[in-house]
Amino acid sequence: MHNILLLGSGGREHAIAWKLKQSSKLNKLFIAPGNAGTAQCGINLNCKATDFEAIKSFVLSNEITMVIVGPEDPLVAGIHDFFLADTQLKNIPVIGPQKLAAQLEGSKDFAKAFMIRHNIPTAKYKTFSLENLNDGFSFLETLKAPYVLKADGLAAGKGVLILHALEEAKAELSNMIANAKFGKASAKVVIEEFLKGIELSVFVLTDGKSYKMLPAAKDYKRIGEGDTGLNTGGMGAVSPVPFADEKFLKKVEERIVKPTISGFVKDHMPYKGFVFIGLMNDHGEPSVIEYNVRMGDPETEVVIPRIKSDLLDLFEGVATQTLDAKNIKIDERFATTVMLVSKGYPEDYEKGKTIKGLDKVAGSMAFHAGTNFGKNNTEILTNGGRVIAITSYGNTMDEALKKSFQNAETINYEGKYYRKDIGEDLRTLS
Ligand code: AMP
Ligand code: GLY
Repeated sequence: MHNILLLGSGGREHAIAWKLKQSSKLNKLFIAPGNAGTAQCGINLNCKATDFEAIKSFVLSNEITMVIVGPEDPLVAGIHDFFLADTQLKNIPVIGPQKLAAQLEGSKDFAKAFMIRHNIPTAKYKTFSLENLNDGFSFLETLKAPYVLKADGLAAGKGVLILHALEEAKAELSNMIANAKFGKASAKVVIEEFLKGIELSVFVLTDGKSYKMLPAAKDYKRIGEGDTGLNTGGMGAVSPVPFADEKFLKKVEERIVKPTISGFVKDHMPYKGFVFIGLMNDHGEPSVIEYNVRMGDPETEVVIPRIKSDLLDLFEGVATQTLDAKNIKIDERFATTVMLVSKGYPEDYEKGKTIKGLDKVAGSMAFHAGTNFGKNNTEILTNGGRVIAITSYGNTMDEALKKSFQNAETINYEGKYYRKDIGEDLRTLS
């Protein structure tokens, strides 16, 4: 029986907590810091996911037997290494890669070099910094529009620019490198070939030697309907992805997943956790846009509900490197999620609005993304740009979406907004 500490505070963590709560192997579940939704599944702690010392003292005083890391920041900051280096913590498994492999998300240059080294299909690229900025301008001249510029480091999902004019691309390159447009994150910039096609995300759980493919998902990144306006963390998701048929997913597994996992072994890069592979599908040919070293949000809110197997049992397989002996069962049904956000998101928005109607949600699950309790602990308030992800199952995508949209109307708070076109594009593609 496990006492689990789950790190994070979003819809992803609520979905993981919801699933862990169903495990026959769970004794106690704590979430740091969690939100009003995770409080339904376990006990929230007032502790940041990056406060390693506070995490250590909690883990030791509460007989925690496993730590599960939701977001990337603690991984990139080396939480797993911190545990391994501490005599009291080193035998407590951490689900999430060590710092070395976390660079697959923390540095675009590192990720591209890994893909090239292991023959994993991806866009051609070169990396530039202040020393060779002029070479960067020359490299741009050899490419055709649109131009893709990526800040090397973590830039809160904002570090990618896609530009249509050469002069604009040169100006932005210099802005990123010389004027620190994204701070230290853009001291190095990856310039890469533009990939055509349609995006999807593939998720893998690995113990560093073997792996299990999890359901694929499509997320909706832009704030506006018809995929317009600013980029967000994600406004909704659908799984399975109708255009990612068995043949396509087999190609992904052979050409991308297998060389990725064997790349970890060859490069002596320990990896226990989730791998999120952002892919472009160009007429049935997959190539990698990016790796993340965690689950996606809101993709988790459709991927986790489709896993029928005991998640904690799978995590035990990851921790003890016996994942190959585990079976994973996937629900055949569709799962869809629709994200309710705050007015103004992804720019400035107000928090603290009372959320009503949560108790009236029927036929869907309301995963909390950004919520907390009001003063008397009875009210639930908005506490983020993304507020609630409404996930539903259906035998068809439309059946699932219909329930999510219905419940999107059931929940109310001042300034509520959501995209009403989630899944729309998939209908014409499939
Ligand atoms: P990333 O931060 O790497 O996920 O990039 C953000 C978004 O930019 C991706 O989700 C894609 O929509 C787009 N993007 C990134 N790289 C490319 C590329 N080489 N070609 C086309 N679109 C891209
Ligand atoms: N939804 C995209 C992400 O989690 O990065």
